[in-house]
Amino acid sequence: MAQYENWQEYWDNFLLNRYGKEEVKSEDDLYFQVARTVNRKPVAKEVFDAIIDGIIQDLALSQEDVLVDFCCGNGLFTYELKDQVKQIIGIDFSQSIIDTANKFRPAANITYCLGGVVEYMRSFAATWPGIRPNKYLMNDSLAYFSAADLENVLSAIIGISGDFRFLVRGVPNDELKWNYYNTPDRKEFYANLIAKGDLTNDGLGTWWQPDDIREVCMKLNLQCIIRNQELPVSDYRMDIIISK
Ligand SMILES: C[S@@+](CC[C@H](N)C(=O)[O-])C[C@H]1O[C@@H](n2cnc3c(N)ncnc32)[C@H](O)[C@@H]1O
Repeated sequence: MAQYENWQEYWDNFLLNRYGKEEVKSEDDLYFQVARTVNRKPVAKEVFDAIIDGIIQDLALSQEDVLVDFCCGNGLFTYELKDQVKQIIGIDFSQSIIDTANKFRPAANITYCLGGVVEYMRSFAATWPGIRPNKYLMNDSLAYFSAADLENVLSAIIGISGDFRFLVRGVPNDELKWNYYNTPDRKEFYANLIAKGDLTNDGLGTWWQPDDIREVCMKLNLQCIIRNQELPVSDYRMDIIISK
């Protein structure tokens, strides 16, 4: 099965497979559906707020901005940004997750769109004539993409936008992975995943090398700033700001 289909099936069924729930019925379920949890509990409010503040700052959001939120999930974070910008276009390939966003986190200036990010961006200009987003966000999702996917998405952005800023948040950093697999049990768990050839890495996705991201950006003549996250948010993920 191709990586894309593998992940689409994974996210479509995540709530059911991991939590035995058919659909979102409560606020906590929103966090469960998109794996915004620590030890199977919704992320702490202070962490949630720190993430939102970080996004607003790193993207320097303003009222004129048109923001695209790649892999927007059920709108948990997207919704919190609605008062900071003019318009938000959220894209996610899971029908059940997009349905949840429309039901639980609708807003007049947010459109939740169904589609794979790489594919959607190929026809963005035709789908959204006259709209030129200037800010882009991908929160905790690059792990589900390859370097070739990242290059395709960035090339599409270059074609659509003039100046832009793209915040890729929460990318598992291969150089920090032992902060995550930090007990003998966890190390063994990881070794078993690799031995089994589990492509989803138990849902965490790909550990990215910072240099692989730099390489894609250099190839496209883009600037990138890479910064490791810090606790209480995370000690094994990095944030990347990409611009012209
Ligand atoms: C960990 S969740 C993060 C959701 C949201 N960004 C957040 O921070 O709450 C990952 C999301 O990425 C979506 N996703 C993964 N690969 C995708 C792709 N190729 N195209 C569109 N959505 C994708 C999944 O459906 C899921 O909603």
